[in-house]
Amino acid sequence: MNTILKTKKITPIISVRRVTKNFDGVRAVDDLSIEIEKGKITGIIGPNGSGKTTLINLLTGMIPFDTGSVFVNGSKELFKIKAYDISVFGSTRTFQDVRLFEQMTVLDNILVVLTERNVASALFEKHKKFHNQKAKEVLEKMGLWGKKNELAVNLSYGQRKLLEIARVLATKSDVYFLDEPFAGLFPEMVKLISEIIKELKQQGKTVILIEHDMSLIRELCDYVFVMESGNLLAEGEPKEVLGDKKVIEAYLGE
Ligand SMILES: Nc1ncnc2c1ncn2[C@@H]1O[C@H](COP(=O)(O)OP(=O)(O)O)[C@@H](O)[C@H]1O
Ligand SMILES: [Mg+2]
Repeated sequence: MNTILKTKKITPIISVRRVTKNFDGVRAVDDLSIEIEKGKITGIIGPNGSGKTTLINLLTGMIPFDTGSVFVNGSKELFKIKAYDISVFGSTRTFQDVRLFEQMTVLDNILVVLTERNVASALFEKHKKFHNQKAKEVLEKMGLWGKKNELAVNLSYGQRKLLEIARVLATKSDVYFLDEPFAGLFPEMVKLISEIIKELKQQGKTVILIEHDMSLIRELCDYVFVMESGNLLAEGEPKEVLGDKKVIEAYLGE
């Protein structure tokens, strides 16, 4: 049950209506209804095991949900995401446990996402040039251009996270899903990724951010959903939600 019902009018890019996902009796997502506002940064917070990653897996079509509906792009052309239909958001997400093509170079890790949608056209030289230029741009941005010929498997933990973000940036999308992109990173990398998330918003993109560091949630997010046991404990603007007594009790500690 949603404990706080919001009535604010928004333009949702994603509407989740009563979605449930079970894993062998565990209700990872339990009758969840949320609206993600277009062009904003939406935070998803909550204790470990509360269903945050599962929600992203459902929204990116990686796994099917059991019941409920998900609609994208506002109220006009409602489109129900089918199980495993990854065409809606493509590969515009990062993983809590970074996932790369380990035996490929840093550069190739970017080139594959640039070409995956149109392999045939990637064969033409002019496209190749364009893709190389784009790959250079995102790798330079993440400070990884100097590592372009390194195999992904040989990168440090922080560089791996940056490469995953570079890959996401190389993929054109309206919506980006970031599952704990800051976890375990040095402050300068945290700063870089924060700036990138802000830039995405400035470009009119929608960002869904799972994060445990509340100062980053406060700094970056326009709106926050707090999950608990697959449903919502609270929602609202960061300062409102992070000061909420039941959120503090259930999640943020004494
Ligand atoms: N593929 C899976 N198979 C079985 N159980 C899963 C699977 N994915 C998640 N779960 C369970 O669903 C619940 C929510 O997990 P998860 O979405 O990863 O939470 P969070 O990201 O908030 O830590 C947990 O109890 C977890 O063990
Ligand atoms: Mg998770």
